[in-house]
Amino acid sequence: MDEAIARYPHEHRRSAAMPLLHLWQEHFGFISDNAVLWIAEKLGLQPINILELVTFYPMFREQPAGKTHIRLCRTLSCAMAGSFELMENLCTTFGIQRPLEDAGTHNPISVSPDGNYSVEFVECLASCHTAPVCVVGEELRENVDANSIADLLKERRSPDRPRGNGGLETAAPWKSFPHPLEHRLIYKNIGHPDWTTDIDCYLRDGGYEQLKQALTLSREDIVNKVKNSGLRGRGGAGFSCGLKWSFIKPDEKRPVYLICNADESEPGTFKDRYIIHEDPHQLLEGMLISCYALNARTAYIYVRGEFHEGAKILERAIEEARTHNFLGKNVLGSRFDVEVYVHRGAGAYICGEETGLIESLEGKRGYPRIKPPYFPAVLGLYMCPTIVNNVETLCAVKHIIAMGGTEYARLGRPNNTGTRVVCVSGDVQRPGYFEIEVGAVTMGQLIYDMAGGLRPGRKLKAVIPGGSSAKVLRADERFKLRQRQTDDRAGDVDR
Ligand SMILES: Cc1cc2nc3c(=O)[nH]c(=O)nc-3n(C[C@H](O)[C@H](O)[C@H](O)COP(=O)(O)O)c2cc1C
Ligand code: FES
Repeated sequence: MDEAIARYPHEHRRSAAMPLLHLWQEHFGFISDNAVLWIAEKLGLQPINILELVTFYPMFREQPAGKTHIRLCRTLSCAMAGSFELMENLCTTFGIQRPLEDAGTHNPISVSPDGNYSVEFVECLASCHTAPVCVVGEELRENVDANSIADLLKERRSPDRPRGNGGLETAAPWKSFPHPLEHRLIYKNIGHPDWTTDIDCYLRDGGYEQLKQALTLSREDIVNKVKNSGLRGRGGAGFSCGLKWSFIKPDEKRPVYLICNADESEPGTFKDRYIIHEDPHQLLEGMLISCYALNARTAYIYVRGEFHEGAKILERAIEEARTHNFLGKNVLGSRFDVEVYVHRGAGAYICGEETGLIESLEGKRGYPRIKPPYFPAVLGLYMCPTIVNNVETLCAVKHIIAMGGTEYARLGRPNNTGTRVVCVSGDVQRPGYFEIEVGAVTMGQLIYDMAGGLRPGRKLKAVIPGGSSAKVLRADERFKLRQRQTDDRAGDVDR
């Protein structure tokens, strides 16, 4: 517990409240009244400061779960693939009586009479292409067969290589990998059978060369490269990454923080999880280059609580990088010190929003802050300048150093450059991930060519193009895309 507390500045020990709650729950199974009192005292807080977290974050529970706890996704792709039938079968097998309606978001856990099993419906687990999915204990299980509960309980997989492989294992054999319409930069090694998460594998592929190169450049040079690249944030808002970075003053006296947003909870999205699970050093390298450019000495990876395996993989990658002096004191003799810590969320979707995330990282409920004045680059973590970037955005930084900003900007469209990882799930034959140049592939190509078209007997009714906040596109609808052009000469474009 002391090691967890030491990850945060002493005067901000409240940040350790969620890590301590996780540790307590992992050890004792649930958060008791004693836990609340003990953690509050340990951190010099009032018990209410801890209780407000337990009652806000769905992953914390005030009652014991079964010896084996199963979290089952009920969001769209999983619901379409039979997660409600799976829940019924689980309950019948375990003799669990579930109330017809959940009693709110808290403790909707149903425990079997013998206490051996408990089940809970949760929202999207970021593996929609292998629906239906659930987490058994701490392990993600994909393509679960609703009629083989015994298999579900038996099956075990290697913790650091989730199945999925771009949909390869869920689909009919796919001869060409990656798909010819793809342009892989960030996903170059993801899904490759010989690729592992070890640092040695990453180094053999030229890993950390861009960090070495960046350390020879001035901070201003790196920020300019990112500006010239035209990179837009990949977390949803699409804000210019270089412009955001340039809000940090070069002579800033307060500590500057970098936060990697790995909360990936948007239904239909699973791109960040694959980077974390399969190529954690790529993310770390991107973060370390970014820290150097921003003069940020501390970085946090806010990873969603359900990515238990992902958090472990990242922790291991950090320690491997430390042994090579890619992080820690005096990185590669550059006199630059930097620390990277993993911080787990606890099931609250809203913590993906950057100011809610910052509140959560400060050990509070993830209520978003009002902008202005709380723009993170000005008043962020601990009221210090903070850059929040998405996992994929930070990986792109490494490629911008490798290629140069101008060369990167040649990919994609003017003013919307580079590659993007798109995720396809639902009633298609080859659900999975695809890295494409921005604007190079139409929705029709994505659905009918890359994702193999609709499953037999299915008819396209609608497409949700980007998470549940996006407009649902009806199959018979011609829709208009507003091109992201500052001068917007092209205006609206029919698709
Ligand atoms: C409700 C809501 C949820 C969000 N969830 C995520 C998320 O899971 N991951 C993410 O990177 N950004 C998410 N965002 C966007 C972040 O607020 C922020 O714009 C982003 O992390 C900035 O990084 P970027 O500039 O690299 O995209 C969310 C925004 C909103 C409003
Ligand atoms: S909808 Fe179930 S994992 Fe995304």
